[in-house]
Amino acid sequence: MIPVWAQVCYVVAAVCFILALKGLSSPKSARRGNLVGAFGALLAVVVTFIAYDIDNLGWILLAVAVGAVGGAWGARRVAMTAMPQLVALFNGVGGGAAALVALLELSEPARAGLVKPNGFFNDGGWFAYAPLNDEAGGHTLEELERLAQLLTTGTLSATAFTILIGAVSFSGSVITFLKLQELMTGRPITFPGGPFVFGGVLVAALGLGVWTVATGSVTLAIILAVVGLLAGVLLVLPVGGADVPIVISLLNAFTGLAVAAGGYVLENALLLVAGTLVGASGTILTRAMARAMGRSVSSILFGAFKGGSTAGRGEVSDRPVRSAGPDDVAIMLAYARKVIVVPGYGLAVAQAQHTIRELVDLLEKRGVEVGYAIHPVAGRMPGHMNVLLAEANVPYEQLLEMDTANGQLRTSDVALVVGANDVVNPAARTSPGSPIYGMPILDADHAGAIVFLKRSMRPGFAGIENELLFDPKTTLLFGDAKASLTALVTALKSL
Ligand code: TAP
Repeated sequence: MIPVWAQVCYVVAAVCFILALKGLSSPKSARRGNLVGAFGALLAVVVTFIAYDIDNLGWILLAVAVGAVGGAWGARRVAMTAMPQLVALFNGVGGGAAALVALLELSEPARAGLVKPNGFFNDGGWFAYAPLNDEAGGHTLEELERLAQLLTTGTLSATAFTILIGAVSFSGSVITFLKLQELMTGRPITFPGGPFVFGGVLVAALGLGVWTVATGSVTLAIILAVVGLLAGVLLVLPVGGADVPIVISLLNAFTGLAVAAGGYVLENALLLVAGTLVGASGTILTRAMARAMGRSVSSILFGAFKGGSTAGRGEVSDRPVRSAGPDDVAIMLAYARKVIVVPGYGLAVAQAQHTIRELVDLLEKRGVEVGYAIHPVAGRMPGHMNVLLAEANVPYEQLLEMDTANGQLRTSDVALVVGANDVVNPAARTSPGSPIYGMPILDADHAGAIVFLKRSMRPGFAGIENELLFDPKTTLLFGDAKASLTALVTALKSL
């Protein structure tokens, strides 16, 4: 039993986690929310070290030090555009850790000489278990009672759940990392009979889970973990291209559920609360992202099995387009009444957030009305554009959500598309066969004129051609977004 003061600290940490989520719901308070959450986590870890009687303290502290240094180094070095990969890795190790902790907990009663008598609901008190050796592993009665608790049906169910879901989350996250890091193909990987193999693995996992609960066997639990790893790989392989970040969010929800169940096994209310919060927020985010892309979660996961690819072939067209230099584009912008900027992934790659702000400031000084149209899945992670533009101190009031932005685009003279492609691709409205069909888009094509800032004719993340590039109203300014924007700023200043 942990002391009351420690339980109070855990409640404080849980409140910090809730406040952190609240803070993260707005760009204005996100930084503070993040810090509050980090403080809660630190408090929980420190209290755990003090309140519990911990074996192998030296090894644990060494592991914490290695993890902390590696995590801090990775997080500081990572480019903003590679954030989804980092989240995938952090999420995966969280799920894997939950599964390992549950396995170790399950092995404790066996090491103390306790076995679960056969029978699914045969719980009773610890005396219902036959010690394997006479000394019962040298444990006190109180310890044996605690260990026997781990072999009750309720706790064993939570243990099996944690092992299975934690393993799925770990291996699934590793595959999403490899796909996003382009260490393996980002295209959906399917094979004949794939759905049946996946279905078979799920049935096997379910059977093994029930068997583990009935017997409390550590060996079966290890096999369950291996089957879980396989299920995670098979779950993510068929997911292609643009959908991978959504699966990261889904696996994040899985990790939360695994941790929550782990909290039940360890009788740790804080883990239960933290896991539930992660599970719930991950689920909400998954649904929000899927909605923003006009897809259902099941079509994201299993669409490739039905023959519908979730990524195009990435072909580059050689049809003619209208291109212009910075001077011509600067004149177009300077004499416009209203310009709507559509930022996308390329803006983040070029790190051109400060330069676009400079350009917008110059335009505003000339009396041009300017706003930023923010698509919920522009870039590579939720809120990517908000974070990027906040970095350049763009006022929040200038960031227009999709519905407002579409209203504004209809009455604007120029849509300035900076490093964005899929989020303005009209194929989402007009081509039922397109992988992005049904995704709500920013109606840049409704503006009086469209200017694209991009380096080439290469398509966006979904790998499909954008007909808007060939529209008579469209002008292309080729080049790296930062270089093009700098040239536009210079040209504007000289007007
Ligand atoms: P994309 O469709 O990926 O287009 C980015 C464009 O930026 C490309 O056309 C690329 O063309 C250009 N670009 C790249 N580097 C550049 C640079 N240095 N300078 C100038 N241009 C550059 O981006 P988007 O419109 O933001 O759409 C996001 C995509 O990611 C969508 O398909 C979305 O579904 C997917 N996705 C996003 C999320 C979240 S949560 N954000 C989650 C899942 C999927 P060039 O190579 O020719 O320069």
